[in-house]
Amino acid sequence: MFSRYKKPASSRPKPAPAAAPAAAPAPASQPGRPAVSRKPVEARAVPVDKDRKRRERLSEIKVELHKRLLENLNLSAIEHASESDLRAEIQAISAEALEEMSVVLNKEERATLHQDLFDEVMGLGPLETLLKDDSVNDILVNGPHQIFIERDGRLELSDVTFKDEKHLLRIIDKIVSAVGRRVDESNPYVDARLADGSRFNAMVPPIAVDGSLVSIRKFKKEKLGIDDLVRFGAFTEEMAVYLQAAVACRLNVIVSGGTGSGKTTTLNALSSFIDNSERILTIEDTAELQLQQIHVGRMESRPANVEGKGAVSQRDCLRNALRMRPDRIIVGETRGEEVIDMLQAMNTGHDGSMTTIHANSARDAVSRLENMIAMAGIEMPLKAVRSQIASAVNLIVQASRLQDGSRRMVSITEVTGMEGEVISMQEVFRFERTGVAPDGKIIGRYNATGVRSHYSERFRQWGYDLPASLFEPMAAE
Ligand SMILES: Nc1ncnc2c1ncn2[C@@H]1O[C@H](COP(=O)(O)OP(=O)(O)OP(=O)(O)O)[C@@H](O)[C@H]1O
Ligand SMILES: [Mg+2]
Repeated sequence: MFSRYKKPASSRPKPAPAAAPAAAPAPASQPGRPAVSRKPVEARAVPVDKDRKRRERLSEIKVELHKRLLENLNLSAIEHASESDLRAEIQAISAEALEEMSVVLNKEERATLHQDLFDEVMGLGPLETLLKDDSVNDILVNGPHQIFIERDGRLELSDVTFKDEKHLLRIIDKIVSAVGRRVDESNPYVDARLADGSRFNAMVPPIAVDGSLVSIRKFKKEKLGIDDLVRFGAFTEEMAVYLQAAVACRLNVIVSGGTGSGKTTTLNALSSFIDNSERILTIEDTAELQLQQIHVGRMESRPANVEGKGAVSQRDCLRNALRMRPDRIIVGETRGEEVIDMLQAMNTGHDGSMTTIHANSARDAVSRLENMIAMAGIEMPLKAVRSQIASAVNLIVQASRLQDGSRRMVSITEVTGMEGEVISMQEVFRFERTGVAPDGKIIGRYNATGVRSHYSERFRQWGYDLPASLFEPMAAE
């Protein structure tokens, strides 16, 4: 029946008896101490799912069938097989095995089983369902038996697992070898981009102590735009009006924020205010930005290959970009020596350039810039470094992921110049937090701080007459 993709009988290993998957260790109980003043922590009951037993049984069956598939399929031949051929093949092998194991499944269970097996052979195994689930933002694998996902800004443990570390390593290997990379004991970590554009990072043992660590930032086909972000409460319409003027009037903008705080999303949304007539060059370590303009040149840096050759850094890209007549340069994230060229670009005729920085506040973003300059080996007096930063950067937008999972633009700060040795700044808008609702949601509101924009005159000259009311704070409630 399935001769085409089946290994010759002699090369197949003898089927081993089905082993039950190792039971997950029982959670250790915490010795209870009376709480003194902290809020009580809800005890999390293990959900007693009536379908759980059935699911466990199904997962055992899947493990066994998968093993048989790998034993039976000629993996080099299936690369050229059509999808329908392969699905038929999988069905046939699974029907035979189920009969042998005397297992009866209903139609729905069979369909799920076949899809899982197909994903296993052709796709990324257990990761496939999570990759297809649009509500999942991030996938975080901590060894084979624990996969967390991020949904609506919150992390939750998924019920997806790998069979064992070997299984997980096989999938990691499949991903990285597809992009011509290698990961093993001597190259224990790798950063790559999946075929669908998702960002992928893996670190394998022994550096990863309890099994391979994988993080995937899912690629969103539909990037959140300004209107979406306003609707989600990431900032207000008034802030959007201000940001539009700032980007259109070519202020140099830094989006600052912690990991996963929405920096790239904000940068992408801000770029929508750039005029279609401008030539934009983007430089990223992993191409994530999706600019809407027609005139965009995208660059992606490249790490060294396994022989340690061929690296093209963000700095190399940036230096080259300056020779490519850009109107604006957008660097996905500034994290190293490229900072020098970025500031120089911002200072020398490429105003309207933008980047993101990993920092917790506008002040912190500036210190990060100073540190990066120092780390790049530039020996300049601190005052000179600061005045370089002060004249390059006009606006710092702070993104933040709050405890309730919501992502908000917590501050918009203008850099106004130098006062003595210090960079002076003024906050124009901020998120004022007032409390926490019983469901854990953070309560607060966006407000103007009442300062007049340092760039008002520039806005006016460029045809953006922002009303004074935009900058007036609302009275406290
Ligand atoms: N305001 C928002 N509301 C809802 N989801 C958001 C919002 N902003 C960003 N996201 C989602 O959060 C995830 C992380 O966003 P993003 O990649 O922009 O963060 P980042 O700060 O650039 O992360 P990293 O530090 O990993 O580069 C994405 O899946 C994005 O779609
Ligand atoms: Mg990012």
